[in-house]
Amino acid sequence: MRYASITDRLAHLGSGRWAVHLAARRMKAQGEEIIELTIGEPDVKPDQALLDEASRAMYAGRTRYSNGRGEPSVLKALTEKYGKRRPGVTEDNILCFPGTQTALYSVMTGLVEAGDGVLVGDPLYATYEGVIASTGAHLIPVPLRPEKKFHLQAEDLERAITPEARVLLLNTPHNPTGAVLTAAEIAAIGTICRKHDLWIVCDEVYEQLIFEGTPFASPFDMPELAERTIVVSSISKSHAAPGFRSGWAAGPAEFCEKLLPVSETMLFGVQPFIADMTALALSQHFDTSDVMRENYRRRAAIVEKAFAGSNLVKPMAPEGGMFILLDVTATGIGGEEFAWELLQEEKVAVMPGTSFGDQAAGFLRVSLTVPEEVLETAMRRIIDLAGRVVSRKQAPLHVL
Ligand SMILES: Cc1ncc(COP(=O)(O)O)c(C=O)c1O
Repeated sequence: MRYASITDRLAHLGSGRWAVHLAARRMKAQGEEIIELTIGEPDVKPDQALLDEASRAMYAGRTRYSNGRGEPSVLKALTEKYGKRRPGVTEDNILCFPGTQTALYSVMTGLVEAGDGVLVGDPLYATYEGVIASTGAHLIPVPLRPEKKFHLQAEDLERAITPEARVLLLNTPHNPTGAVLTAAEIAAIGTICRKHDLWIVCDEVYEQLIFEGTPFASPFDMPELAERTIVVSSISKSHAAPGFRSGWAAGPAEFCEKLLPVSETMLFGVQPFIADMTALALSQHFDTSDVMRENYRRRAAIVEKAFAGSNLVKPMAPEGGMFILLDVTATGIGGEEFAWELLQEEKVAVMPGTSFGDQAAGFLRVSLTVPEEVLETAMRRIIDLAGRVVSRKQAPLHVL
């Protein structure tokens, strides 16, 4: 049978990225004890009040069709949230989606097509390549350099720009590196985007998970970038509620107007009972993200300490998010091979850096979503494997 070319473009970009994770889940299903440090699934529950609200709304009959833009209660809550960040925001600047992922997909569909280029810092979140490829556009990597703590540099961005470039896909706080861009860095990046007339799509799903130091900054909050910036985000991480699939895009009114038919064609509206729960989540303070932020900060410090004396595994201190990168290049094998051996030999599942772009090939991404003692055990096993890998390589060859 014949299929459309999107299926070929995405064929190697889907679950292949999560192969180690999927293998770990299979091993678990067969009864093996695996320490799973792969995906970014919060290890706390959503606040009870949010669960109660979703359930109340569902039983109260909020199970009918919604409209394409979003339920009034959520639009109001989002208008207030983003209005605090940049005066003048109205409901015309908001569109609701089931999660950041669909928002990314739709937004990109509305901005680029075959022949266009999308600039992205590399390392990059694992689904970005697919989101871009789905439109027919191509990804233009901008190296994020470890010596710059993986902060996107305006000079690197400008060097990477080609005549086809239309969009910069930004992510702060960043997955997988944990980099948090400063307002000054974003302003410098914004200047380049204005000069080259680029859209900025900013994925801010980890907005609430900044450990300390750098305050959160966004191109959305800068009036000079208002006409070209679209934020995508959700309650997945901030409220530990990824399964509810509740997110949004916030951008220029004209953009939202243009994108609305795309969204309507895909979704025909999001779920009203989840919208009610989201409105509550956005309009009050819940301490879920405070708890997670403190957990992930403390656990990142534990990982850093675990490798303090190691010359084989180098932890890259994150500034936010829920992950830490480990540089395993000194072991002489790449992150991919290391991750598979770690799973097979030590029963620890981590994401190989290769799932996050070429620049991350020598790294492992460790999710900080397990209790401290489990994390410590996993780190000891990583040290053990690193040692074995190196001594194996140094062992003299036995010539027969
Ligand atoms: C950077 C980034 N963007 C988007 C997503 C997807 O978020 P959502 O659950 O809102 O679709 C994730 C999930 O891990 C992420 O890390």
